Amino acid sequence: MITVIGSANMDVIAQADKFPLQGETVRGKDFQTAPGGKGANQAVACARLGQKVQLIGTTGTDSFGEMIVANLRDQQVDTSYITQADGSSGVAVILLTEGDNRIISIPGANHALTPERIGELKSVIGASQLVMMQLELPIDTVWSVLELCNELEVPVVMDPAPSSSFQLEYMPYLHYLTPNETECAQLFGTSIEETVTNYPNKLLVTLGKDGVCYHDQEKIIYVPGVPAQVVDTTGAGDTFNGALASQLVQGSNLQSAIHFANVAASLSVGKFGAQGGMPTAQEVVKKVEQLAYRVE
Ligand code: RIB
Repeated sequence: MITVIGSANMDVIAQADKFPLQGETVRGKDFQTAPGGKGANQAVACARLGQKVQLIGTTGTDSFGEMIVANLRDQQVDTSYITQADGSSGVAVILLTEGDNRIISIPGANHALTPERIGELKSVIGASQLVMMQLELPIDTVWSVLELCNELEVPVVMDPAPSSSFQLEYMPYLHYLTPNETECAQLFGTSIEETVTNYPNKLLVTLGKDGVCYHDQEKIIYVPGVPAQVVDTTGAGDTFNGALASQLVQGSNLQSAIHFANVAASLSVGKFGAQGGMPTAQEVVKKVEQLAYRVE
């Protein structure tokens, strides 16, 4: 069982031909709501790929909360450990133009997940093969998860987004950290090559269409990106993380797992919404076979 500890949001999405400049109003093309949140997205990505997965998180007492939980159930994510907190659910306001997005994430109930709640779920977390985290939770809750997983020897994969909540002190507690190029520069302040060399087999830097860069303890490896038809990149990173975890729990080696995750992310951007394009295992395997990438 994979356990995702993280956010569940309702994404409210406005589509337009261009982003407004400061003080400008632009005419939009479409408006939609869709389930999102980095934690929920990662959990759905795992479930689509056939993994048993549960989400530990908190939704609000509003109608979005009910919709978020109903969607997770529909997607075969175990919601037994999602609790309700008074007030509104997490919401992300997403501005979407062709192939690009800007997001404001309002934590709402996601910030009601406390270290005490994590302590109550010690046996649930301890029975997990892998824990996945992002940073849309309070920092003391993040710390409580890291310390508990360290004590219980449960590996943790962290996506350091939003990067403003990342602390370098997390590093010894992590099995994998998966920043994108921008986050990597913000967090470490050194070149990608130097940074991955400092954290071999731990720091996996996602480079969008250019793939992933990491250090395998001997040399830097670039796992190439996969060409994609881009409709909406929202949730591509979450798909990458979910797919990576799904391969790691099946015992895949790191390079193959990264390639599989790259392929999954490339497929996910072909449809609208963070979760809309997340592929099944069969879809990813078909594309992996077509590409015939050779692991070193
Ligand atoms: O990673 C994409 C997600 O970030 C969106 O679904 C949005 O909810 C924000 O949390």
